[in-house]
Amino acid sequence: MCGIIAYAGPKPAAPILVSGLRTLEYRGYDSAGIGVQNGSGVITVTRALGVDQLADAVAAQDINGESAPNVGIAHTRWATHGGVTIPNAHPHTSADGRVAVVHNGIVENYMELRTELVDSGVEFTSETDSEVIAHLVSRCVEAGETLATAVRCAARRLHGASSFVATFADQPGVIVGVRLGNAGGIVVGIGDGFHLLASDVLAILPHTDRVVYLRSGEVASIEPSRVEFTDLLGEPLDRPVFKTGRSFEAAAKGEHPHFMAKEIAEQSETVSSAMRRRVDFESGTIDLPEIPYTDDEIRSIDRVIVSGMGTSLHSCMYGAQMIEALTGIPAQAENASELRYRNTALNERTLVISVTQSGETADTLAAMELASAAGSKQLVLVEAEGTQATLVADGTLYLGAGQEIGVASTKTMMCSLVVLYQLAVYLGTRRDRLAAQRASDLVSDLSRLPGLIAEMIEDGGRCEKLAKEKLVDKRHLLYLGRGALHPMAMEGALKMKELAYLHAEGYPAGEMKHGPIALISEEMPTVALAPQGALYDKMVGNIHEVKARGGEVIALATRGDEIMPGLADEVLWLPVASQWIVPMLTLVPMQQLAYHTSVALGLDPDKPRNLAKSVTVE
Ligand code: AGP
Repeated sequence: MCGIIAYAGPKPAAPILVSGLRTLEYRGYDSAGIGVQNGSGVITVTRALGVDQLADAVAAQDINGESAPNVGIAHTRWATHGGVTIPNAHPHTSADGRVAVVHNGIVENYMELRTELVDSGVEFTSETDSEVIAHLVSRCVEAGETLATAVRCAARRLHGASSFVATFADQPGVIVGVRLGNAGGIVVGIGDGFHLLASDVLAILPHTDRVVYLRSGEVASIEPSRVEFTDLLGEPLDRPVFKTGRSFEAAAKGEHPHFMAKEIAEQSETVSSAMRRRVDFESGTIDLPEIPYTDDEIRSIDRVIVSGMGTSLHSCMYGAQMIEALTGIPAQAENASELRYRNTALNERTLVISVTQSGETADTLAAMELASAAGSKQLVLVEAEGTQATLVADGTLYLGAGQEIGVASTKTMMCSLVVLYQLAVYLGTRRDRLAAQRASDLVSDLSRLPGLIAEMIEDGGRCEKLAKEKLVDKRHLLYLGRGALHPMAMEGALKMKELAYLHAEGYPAGEMKHGPIALISEEMPTVALAPQGALYDKMVGNIHEVKARGGEVIALATRGDEIMPGLADEVLWLPVASQWIVPMLTLVPMQQLAYHTSVALGLDPDKPRNLAKSVTVE
């Protein structure tokens, strides 16, 4: 959450910073701000309630950061402490305006620090925890320290996970950034005659592909022609420069009205990327060279935990079911924020698989650290290259979805299911649990997925009609599914909550009679995931129960099903597909239902209220 970008170099800083903020806006869009050195002895700070408004304000004031050299810091905020107001927007400055700071994370001891500063005469102008950092840095520079020393000194006083970047008017040309724990990364961009700091490499890529990712407890001090790395005590660090393989592609919606519409439509291609170089369709085998374990190590695994948050947790639930079914190893999905705080019996025979498209989710990273401390084997499924999760895991399986701009996950979830599918087949094969023919059949089922998704996307018009005619005036929805369709029902409900702000519950259908059935009425339609399969008859029973209580049913059923049109009020058809492929297909109409309901309600599906794409605070 929160995006940071800073620049020191020969070009006017403001345009570079504003354009960087546009790239980082997915991290939070409550407010935005910029602070540039103008050689006047103070930092010129401009804040606004959004990047567009900030860009207008910067243009109106002709702020370029044109001192020599050009230096500035900028921020896009996801509010934690203090409301969405201009005074709470970053940068925060010292009372004399000579120190400015942008911050991502939470200062857990900020009340104690604030009291100490207030007692020493400091007047606060915001309700944020972040402002204490500006005053702490200022106190150290007043004592005659350099900006780098002052930042280290302030950083040592902070509890919790934070990343922050500071600049100081009396040291023109210098910016210092620090990373403490997992509150979102800091990437240093190394250019010829310029340097940048940013929360995400994407904001750096338009300028350079040479980067250094800061680790926890590291400090980077940049000037146009100089960069220095130290630890928190000032000991110099030798940090190798890494040439990222990623290239900058300006995010474009193409013919689509929203990024989310584009990302839903792309899924048939992105699942192919998730299979590339891993699946051999001719031999019917899967190879995952990213996995560093020997056959003996794989055979030694006696428990699998698949951990993540939100949509990624729903992928984990699917993955755990499939891994247990194909490998025979007991596997469970766990919410990372729970896993990290309970006394889980992890050991070296446990395999922990984490799923996190951003690679930055604070709870998921904390659970991974716990697993590392216990000596567990660790794999991670990630979209974002080089992020902290990839540094902790023994092996990284990239999703290959391509950058997802819409805050609600769609194509990254689909790709994570595809990678978990491959992982289940791979582990089953390496443990000799899965016969070659069965593995080959599973590979053949997977090969049909891109075409089946394309078919589903073509059929999207029906979802748009249903959203406009049936869902737009509803306030509550129930989603039901069984087996691997249960996590999909939860995901369908989550998408509806996130995008249309409707109250939606996802339940295992068998649980319905144990409480949720009390909610059923004509006010609360049920989306029933009822494709053909072993549990079809059970779902038909549930649908009868909903209908008997006056509830309306939208069923997702397999084409050719002759019962469903006479039973459900509406049917969305699914193509015939195998047991582990069908759950992926159900995602498409549920994404479309949520998207079209959001649009019909006049909301912005790309930027739902209160959300951020990267949840770097717990
Ligand atoms: C899904 O639409 C949300 N954006 C959210 O639930 C997300 O999946 C969750 O925050 C986990 O993110 P991660 O995959 O980046 O770890």
